Amino acid sequence: MAIAGGAQVVGLDIGTSAVRAAEVSSGKNGLTLSKFGQVALPPGSVVDGEIRDAGSVSHAISTLFKRHKISSKKVVVGVANQRVVVRQVDLPYLEEKDFRASIKFQVAEHIPMPVDDAEIDYQILADYETAESGHMMRVLIVAAATDMVEQFVDTVTAAGLRPTGVDLIPFAVARAVSDAARGEVGLDGAEAIVDVGAGVTNVLIHQNGEAQFVRILLTGGDHATSEIAEEMDIPFDEAEAHKLDLHTGAGDKQAAEIVARCVGNLVQEIQGSLDYYLGLEEAQPIRSVLLTGGGSLTPGLGRALEASLDMDVFGAVPLQQVDAKKTGLNQNQISQVEPVAAAALGLAMGRAGR
Ligand SMILES: Nc1ncnc2c1ncn2[C@@H]1O[C@H](COP(=O)(O)OP(=O)(O)OP(=O)(O)O)[C@@H](O)[C@H]1O
Ligand SMILES: [Mg+2]
Repeated sequence: MAIAGGAQVVGLDIGTSAVRAAEVSSGKNGLTLSKFGQVALPPGSVVDGEIRDAGSVSHAISTLFKRHKISSKKVVVGVANQRVVVRQVDLPYLEEKDFRASIKFQVAEHIPMPVDDAEIDYQILADYETAESGHMMRVLIVAAATDMVEQFVDTVTAAGLRPTGVDLIPFAVARAVSDAARGEVGLDGAEAIVDVGAGVTNVLIHQNGEAQFVRILLTGGDHATSEIAEEMDIPFDEAEAHKLDLHTGAGDKQAAEIVARCVGNLVQEIQGSLDYYLGLEEAQPIRSVLLTGGGSLTPGLGRALEASLDMDVFGAVPLQQVDAKKTGLNQNQISQVEPVAAAALGLAMGRAGR
């Protein structure tokens, strides 16, 4: 769907801890972020990236749009959970129109869900010749369970909005945080983008803007909080306060040990994803890792990741790349929301100016 340059596009991120909206328009001087806001969700409304309590989510979305005076009803919604999969597959070459016409048949054996119950999207990455198989094509397939997508669409519609597109959160995050992922600069090698949320961690690896690998892990910053709550036998809120206290360097010793252990496990899971990619035949060396998401602030995570991967790990600054003056947020507030803004921003950027 094309939107004329200058029109406003709203990206809506339904996360585990909050719903967030970013209103973006594109002009001669690049992208303008005119609105950004978030409203916290009651715990349990979104679990493992899926909507569990549609009523409280749509209520939070209406509050968000009212409170931040976002007038556009049209929104692009993000999804990231275990009911959407991204797979790279090699298939006999077809003209794109023939491939599109027979896509369900072509990809059925490559996706772990019935094709008739799935929404399927694709990106053709390459075509090539081999001695054994002849003319082949490599395609990135995105398959999402139809009922899961419908639940997102219904929840957003119930909030009085009109979803005009559904996009994968890891794609949106990559677009928001990396000029290389947007194809604006070339990279010699691959780049990993890691979004550590509350309950979901998205890992995407791209080569010059083409996604090569996506993994959606069901873990995030809340895991450490839950472990603190359980082991210290305290409520979740108190455990969260303990976790945040560790930034001061003077936090609770037991909480520090629990967080260190959780950080170790999370690093291993992220490393496992990167290792899987690096084991693929067409893998290129990963030059750097861009880290975002509220969970990326978990005390010690950035350093542990850098040490374990032996790669440069950078905290992403997506809001530095757009003109955010109209949001009315000052520099301090921008820094505050920077780690959690990528998904909503990237969802809007995928449509702005097209
Ligand atoms: N300053 C901080 N230090 C440590 N952890 C933090 C900090 N700020 C936020 N977090 C953690 O970040 C997590 C929330 O991250 P984020 O807002 O990116 O998740 P979400 O988008 O709501 O959920 P998800 O993407 O997992 O569905 C929580 O686990 C929270 O404890
Ligand atoms: Mg998130």
